[in-house]
Amino acid sequence: MDALPKKLKHDLEEAAEFLLHRLNEGVVVRVITHHDADGLSAGAIVHTAVVRAGFPCETRCVKQLESRIIAEIASEKPELLILTDFGSGQVDLLQQHLPDAGMIILDHHQPREVEDEPEYHINSHSYGIDGSREVSGSGMAYLFARTFLKKLEHSSADLTALAAVGAVGDLQENSGTFRGINREIIREGEREGVLRLEKDLRLFGRQTRPLYKAIEYTTEPFIPGLSGSESASLQFLSELEIPVKRDDSFVMLADLTQEERQRLTTALILKMIEHRIPPHIAEGIVGEVVTLLKEEKRTPLRDAKEFATLLNACGKHEHYGIGLAVCLGERGELYRRALGMLRKHREYLNSCYDWVTKNIEKIRDEGAVYAFHAGEEIDENVIGTVAGMVLNSRILGEVKPIIAFASAEDGEVKVSARGNRELVERGVNLGKAMLYASERVAGEGGGHDVAAGAKIPRGREEEFLKHVEEKIREQLSGGV
Ligand code: C5P
Ligand code: C5P
Ligand code: ZN
Repeated sequence: MDALPKKLKHDLEEAAEFLLHRLNEGVVVRVITHHDADGLSAGAIVHTAVVRAGFPCETRCVKQLESRIIAEIASEKPELLILTDFGSGQVDLLQQHLPDAGMIILDHHQPREVEDEPEYHINSHSYGIDGSREVSGSGMAYLFARTFLKKLEHSSADLTALAAVGAVGDLQENSGTFRGINREIIREGEREGVLRLEKDLRLFGRQTRPLYKAIEYTTEPFIPGLSGSESASLQFLSELEIPVKRDDSFVMLADLTQEERQRLTTALILKMIEHRIPPHIAEGIVGEVVTLLKEEKRTPLRDAKEFATLLNACGKHEHYGIGLAVCLGERGELYRRALGMLRKHREYLNSCYDWVTKNIEKIRDEGAVYAFHAGEEIDENVIGTVAGMVLNSRILGEVKPIIAFASAEDGEVKVSARGNRELVERGVNLGKAMLYASERVAGEGGGHDVAAGAKIPRGREEEFLKHVEEKIREQLSGGV
C-alpha cells in the first residue's frame, strides 16, 4: 500500500487518531452506511475494526442519505458518527443538522463543492483517485480500518475480503481488471492468504451453480439469447458437446478441462458478437475474479461476485441487518435467510427484466438519453440494477445513458441513471447531471460519472428529464 498518496495517508492517520481519542473518552460511535453490497461491506469493516479494538459500536444502514434521514439521525443527538459509502454529496446538510457531532466521512462518490469542509472528510476524488473504478466505499473503509487497527497493533488483513466484495458489488472491475487501490488491497489480501485473484470466465455462480445455470444467470456482461434462459443455455452446452452432468453430479465451471473452458469462452464471445455486442465488451466475459479463501468451498460466499449479490439481495429488500450479520461472520440461521433472499432477488430481477422487454415501447428516445418510467412495476431499490441490465443487454439501438424512474414513498420518484465506460470517455458524467437536474426540481441527487441517482417530487419527471438531457448533450459536446 506504499502507493497511497501522502496526503491521504496523513488524513487517514488524523481521522484514526481522532476516533481513538473519542472512543477512549467513552463516546459510543455510530456508523451509518449505504444499503447496497458496497455500503454493507464498508459499514461492517469499520464496525469490526472498532469492536476489535475493544469498543462498542452501533451500525445502521439507510437507503440514501437524504435530508429527511439526516434530520432523523440528528434528532437522536449522536456525539460521534462515521459515514461510509456516502456523505460527500451531503456535507452541507450534515453540517447544518449536526453542527456539534464529531464526524468522519469515508466516501468515493463525486464530492460537491462546499465552502466549509468538515475536518475528517476523506473522499477518494480529493486525492486524485477515481471513485468509480479505483476504490469503492468499502475500499475507503478498509484504508481507514487498517490505519486505525495498526495503531493498536491489530491485524486488518481479513477485512480485505469485504473490501473486495464491495468493489465487485459496485461493478468497479467491469472492464475485466481491478485497478488502483482496489488492486493493491486485493494483492494485500493475497499475501495474507485471504484472497486469490485469477483470470476466469466471469460467469455468475462459479462456485455454486451447475454450468448451464451459471450461463443462464450471467447478466454482466449480458449474453443475448442465453442470459435468463435455462433451455437455451442447456442447448448451447449440448451443441458445444460439454456435458451437463458427469458421474451423476452437475458440471460446474471449476470442473471443466482447459480445452473445454477454451471452447466455451470462444463460443460465448462469438455468440455475443453475433448479437451486435462490440468485441471489447464481449471479451469482458473473461476477466479477473476474486475467491475468498477463508470461506467454505462451493458456497456463494467463496466468490466475491456472489457474495456481493447476496448482500444486495438483503440490503435492497430492506433486510440490512441480515446482510450486515453475514458480513460480520454470521453463518447460522441468518445466513440461511440470506440465501433465501438471494434466490428471491434473482427471480425478482428476472421478472423486472421481463417487464421491460415486454414493454419496450415505454423506453423513449429522448435525444442524448433513453428514458422509461416503471411506476409501481419495479421497486425503487432495484430500478438502478434493472437500468444497468437494459443498457448491457443492447436491446436498444444506440449506446446512450438510460434514465429510469420508479415510484417511491411519500409522493416522490426515484431516478437511476446508468452509463458505461465508452460514454464516460465521450464526456458523460451522470453524477453531475443528476445533481444539476435535481437541484432544479427541488430534489436531491448525485453519484458517480458512470452511475448516479436522484429523488425528486412526483409530477416533475418531465421537467427533470429535460434538464438531464440538456446537461448530457452539453457534456457530450465538451461542456461539464
Ligand atoms: O452507491 P454506490 O457507490 O455503492 O453504488 C455504485 C453503483 O454504480 C452500483 O449500483 C453499481 O452497480 C453502479 N455501477 C454501474 N456501472 C459501473 C460502475 C458502477 O452500474 N461501471
Ligand atoms: O440508487 P442507484 O443505484 O441508482 O444509485 C446510483 C449511484 O448514485 C449510487 O452510487 C448512489 O449512492 C448514488 N446516488 C446519490 N444520490 C442519490 C441517489 C443515488 O449519490 N440521491
Ligand atoms: Zn459504493
